[in-house]
Amino acid sequence: MSAINKQKSKTIHVGLLTSGGDAPGMNAAIRAVVLAATANNINVTGFHHGYNGLIDNECSLLSPDDVQGIIRLGGTILKSARCQAMTEKSGINKAVDTLKHHEIDALIVIGGDGSFCGLQAIQNQWQGQTIGIPGTIDNDIDGTDYTIGFSTAVNTAIDAIDKIRDTANAFDRVFIVELMGRKSGHITFNVGISCAAEQVISFENFQPSEKQSTLNKLADNIKQSIVVNQASYLIVMAENLWPGGSQAFADELSAASKVDCTLCTLGYIQRGGSPVAKDRILATKMGVAAIQAIMQQQTDVMIGEQNNAMVSIPLAQTALHQKQVSQSLVDAQQNILAMTAQTDT
Ligand code: F6P
Repeated sequence: MSAINKQKSKTIHVGLLTSGGDAPGMNAAIRAVVLAATANNINVTGFHHGYNGLIDNECSLLSPDDVQGIIRLGGTILKSARCQAMTEKSGINKAVDTLKHHEIDALIVIGGDGSFCGLQAIQNQWQGQTIGIPGTIDNDIDGTDYTIGFSTAVNTAIDAIDKIRDTANAFDRVFIVELMGRKSGHITFNVGISCAAEQVISFENFQPSEKQSTLNKLADNIKQSIVVNQASYLIVMAENLWPGGSQAFADELSAASKVDCTLCTLGYIQRGGSPVAKDRILATKMGVAAIQAIMQQQTDVMIGEQNNAMVSIPLAQTALHQKQVSQSLVDAQQNILAMTAQTDT
């Protein structure tokens, strides 16, 4: 490009928003996008409250000053939302109108698979570039080894459960800890193994049809542990799993074992807090890669990390299936349980 043409060429304008469940590290990704963009003479406008900011035209220009010191903050400075309007044509039209109004060239959305559906809907009606950055504690997005926020959520849950274990040990008590993950067991299995839970129950190793046999087996194990061995017993289980909910599971297990089984739902504590190093670094790499992808004219892609390398995955591919929990993790838990059972007998 000649010097004169370069002068005439328009500065690239990027739109940026965070959408869906917030995840620790989203701010680190915002920071990386803004700093990488600024270094390449690209402007960034942040839209507030997820896709609602696009629909309602609620936004502000982001400068390096705006992102100073945010790498250590949980939540998202842009705010987030689940946006029902983006499932309707009128909502998508309004979002596209706002993008055109601000002469946005590329839109970056940090969020989960639901947020990427919105991004694809925009892509279908808009000429600009669309880039997704996977940010969700659930780690359930295909095409990336890890999502932003997962590692922090796992560490937060481990920290909480280690404390629960102390009181469980003091009373030789049974605790059931319900963990987030929506419909997948990435958090449950990683946390369960890290906390040496006596049982991990998740989508990957439980079918509702096995409900009664699961209760019977657990009741036997609990009696052995609490009554005979006088040791605490910790069950880590996935949310949205047990028919009737986790409290129903606790009640049914208490009845079957004749031992009080106390439910502790960790809930939203898993979404908050300062991101751990792994999430800060992943978010930084992904934010920088998103700007590089825009400069390389890529569109309709999600930035991912596979085997320590940054990759661009077609957005449509990420929506095809949910990323599965690695079988080696499920097997490890299974083997450890088998060994514990042998030691107990
Ligand atoms: O996707 C993140 C997540 O925290 C899931 O683990 C959980 O099931 C869901 O969001 C909760 O959603 P909401 O914030 O809408 O209650």
